[in-house]
Amino acid sequence: MNSTANKTHRGQVDALLGIVFGDEGKGKVVDVFTPHYDVVARFAGGPNAGHTIIFDGKKFVLRSIPSGIFDEGKLNIIGNGCVIAPDLFMDEARELESNGYDLRSRLHISNRAHLILPTHRVLDRAYEAAKGKNKVGTTGKGIGPTYSEKASRTGLRVGDIMEGFEAKYAALKARHEQILADLNYTDYDITEEEKRWLQGIDYLRQFVITDTATEINRMLEQGKNVLAEGAQGTMLDIDHGTYPFVSSSSTTTGGVCTGLGVAPNRIGEIFGIFKAYSTRVGSGPFPVELFDETGDLIREVGHEYGAVTGRNRRCGWVDLVALKYAIMINGVTQLIMMKGDVLDGFKTIRACIAYEKDGERVTDMPFDTEGWEPVYRDLPGWDQNLSSMTSKEEFPQTFKDYIAFLESELATPITIVSVGPDREQTIRM
Ligand code: IMP
Repeated sequence: MNSTANKTHRGQVDALLGIVFGDEGKGKVVDVFTPHYDVVARFAGGPNAGHTIIFDGKKFVLRSIPSGIFDEGKLNIIGNGCVIAPDLFMDEARELESNGYDLRSRLHISNRAHLILPTHRVLDRAYEAAKGKNKVGTTGKGIGPTYSEKASRTGLRVGDIMEGFEAKYAALKARHEQILADLNYTDYDITEEEKRWLQGIDYLRQFVITDTATEINRMLEQGKNVLAEGAQGTMLDIDHGTYPFVSSSSTTTGGVCTGLGVAPNRIGEIFGIFKAYSTRVGSGPFPVELFDETGDLIREVGHEYGAVTGRNRRCGWVDLVALKYAIMINGVTQLIMMKGDVLDGFKTIRACIAYEKDGERVTDMPFDTEGWEPVYRDLPGWDQNLSSMTSKEEFPQTFKDYIAFLESELATPITIVSVGPDREQTIRM
């Protein structure tokens, strides 16, 4: 970034949140922000996330581990609002350890985070299969069944692995097998998966498993500051997203409080990340989706393929209806716009300013986003190559106009613009 310090206040929690459908590039920004924080904490989601970070010339995809892990001297926390799959966690952690990152001194895990069992993943597939054409298009990581079990008070938490775990695990697994039998979903075999999963449990025991809420609050009292790293995005939030085509956790600022155990008055800056265009993975309404060559071009240039599942991401123009809603729900104080360079060369850039259906026009997010058509405002594009620019002064006037238009429509400042995957391509406005 051309201007350095991210102005942070001591004793506060700042949040960095994806504010549309996830995949905004949170990993890269956390990496840029980490030097300014003492703690980086994940508060929601699990291995359905895939935060890509290029560090020391090597690409890492972090699923459960916070993106502050590369910085020596920073504490990383997997908070109580997260769900964790021990086998996938072991793979992710070992990959980092084999690259020389000393995880055990840098990572603490909440004893209240919930465990994803192998049978949760089978249940995820079984529930999706039962939905027929109304599939959510989940990542298949067992997220929904694990959070459902948390809410129905039958789940297992990380703290449970410390004592009498085998019996608790066997009881829950038997319960899942019964549900699967009732669903007539019997064509599965978890033998090998379960072996690795149990190895993952042993591996997890080597980490600091603790009451991270108390730990974070003690650190805040000492004047330390925390960056809460969001996962997914506001439109995938269990309450505020495009239900039922959502994930199962609270991805918003409210989720920071419940998912870390911090009080609302500890929250400081709320950074909302979005891309200069829109993407969505999985099923569900997406009014701005482009089915033409423009959509294909955005996917190709923006490498819009899922970091976890490799699926094609659906692509479209920026959606101001969704963004305004997300800014309101989260109390976003600053916007970060990613991937501006992907729109280089388009003669016209479009921005969705309203939805229309049967002659009705709305600018507030409707209850059912199915069947709405986008209403666009057209803006002139730019020919220049943004990715080579290192300061806002170099930006072409039409790109500056696009930024000014978004800021005025969204009534929120865009303080950082990213024009490429590199740290240097993160430009302070
Ligand atoms: P689940 O979180 O695996 O249950 O998937 C629910 C929905 O959220 C599906 O449409 C997924 O494609 C989507 N989803 C989950 N995690 C992410 C993510 O990190 N980025 C983008 N979409 C996601």
